Amino acid sequence: MFFYLKPRLMEVSTETRMQQMTGRRLVVFPLPLQGHINPMLQLANILHSRGFNITVIHTQYNSLNPSKYPHFTFRPISDGLLETPPSTERGRDLLTLLNVNCVAPFRDCLAQLLSSVSEEPIACLITDAIWHFTQAVADGLKLPRLVLHSGNISFLAFAVHPFLRETGFLPKQDSQTEEPVEALPPLKIKDFPTMDIANPEDDLYMLIDGMVKANKGSSGFIWNSFKELEQPALATLRRRSIVPLFPIGPFHKYFPASSSSLLAQDPSSISWLDTQSPKSVIYVSFGSLATFDETEFLEMAWGLANSMQPFLWVVRPGLIPGSEWLEPLRNGFLEAVSGRGHIVKWAPQQEVLAHPATGGFWTHSGWNSTLESICEGVPMICSPRSNNQMVSARYASDVWRVGVQLENGLERVDVERAIRKLMVESEGEEMRERIMCLKEKADLCLREGGSSYQSLESLVNYIFSF
Ligand code: UDX
Repeated sequence: MFFYLKPRLMEVSTETRMQQMTGRRLVVFPLPLQGHINPMLQLANILHSRGFNITVIHTQYNSLNPSKYPHFTFRPISDGLLETPPSTERGRDLLTLLNVNCVAPFRDCLAQLLSSVSEEPIACLITDAIWHFTQAVADGLKLPRLVLHSGNISFLAFAVHPFLRETGFLPKQDSQTEEPVEALPPLKIKDFPTMDIANPEDDLYMLIDGMVKANKGSSGFIWNSFKELEQPALATLRRRSIVPLFPIGPFHKYFPASSSSLLAQDPSSISWLDTQSPKSVIYVSFGSLATFDETEFLEMAWGLANSMQPFLWVVRPGLIPGSEWLEPLRNGFLEAVSGRGHIVKWAPQQEVLAHPATGGFWTHSGWNSTLESICEGVPMICSPRSNNQMVSARYASDVWRVGVQLENGLERVDVERAIRKLMVESEGEEMRERIMCLKEKADLCLREGGSSYQSLESLVNYIFSF
């Protein structure tokens, strides 16, 4: 299927391959953020089920709980964040810092694993795309490195690739402009991540530049996506890419639930949904990182209240910087929604989306959330905040046409209108029908002969060839 695979590799029988693979170990290194930990550990589980043993190298920051994965071996490394002022432990700064602080501890840990006579031979390293320093380490230790992209293929293909600079699409003076990018419909300038490419110190630019350059030297890209969902982006990347691409998602469908949650998932989410009518509830959650100011939060709250629809709302501690949890909800909000709304700190999201009472998902369009919603056939309201989320939201609203995008900020009247459109109007019903077709494609791609199934076969054979 992939032109770059040596035909010999495709001819190895499964039985022979499994015999030869016995004792083959993979080392995985997740980025320590929820939206990246989930897909990496799901991928590790998938490959473990295909006969590989797994060693997970992980940072102390957002440290993983080995007891949830007794079939894996865990190696913690120091990340130096304890010595770092808290103000720098956020977002892009955090990722830049981790890419510096982890170099020596990661290299030492990997070198030790490679030289240990008691360890099995290591076939390859799999790291998150954002860990760009790991390519040089892998090259130094002569170990093949595969890259896991936790985001959408379209984002890498269209929004961050250096060709945008080479062809003059970027920079634009006003990153919030509605102006379409003519060569990349339906993307608009405002769907691109805001970065100051004239400034070599710009953190996001440095991070993306480092990632794109380093990952070119890798042995391949793995995606938590599937061919039928992002065909044009995949074709574009295949034309440009010199490394093999393996879209083998959706990962979470190989294994029913994620046990890699950093926060405790509130089981009352499900018992409350059990009391609601089919497809009546709008589930509201903005992932593990997004923040809102108090004004936006109150507009969201009153939009939900005024929509008169039942809702399950994840208000993560930290969602409103400076607030502990629900203190901004004064002036009778909780009384107004009593019996109709349920608020939790963190939910078992995949179970919530699969619940018969869930009829819509108001999301920040994080890639995992988008994919999880597609896989359960739940249409979306999209409020993207940063990075790859704007591209996911544009695809949900304008390409797949399975979502409504709140384009102009968060005003309560717009929120109310969007919720009603999704939950009770015919437009929402049409979106539900379209997303059910995508759900079917997601189901089919994992079955024997499906695109992700074949891609996973190719990936396993490819790793075996190292
Ligand atoms: C981030 C980016 O936003 C995302 O676009 C990128 O591709 C990965 O990193 P995050 O913002 O946390 O992730 O969002 P998302 O990608 O949606 O991942 C959140 C994960 O947390 C999902 O797997 C979701 O199921 C889980 N989750 C979320 C819960 O388990 N419970 C909740 O209450 C909310």
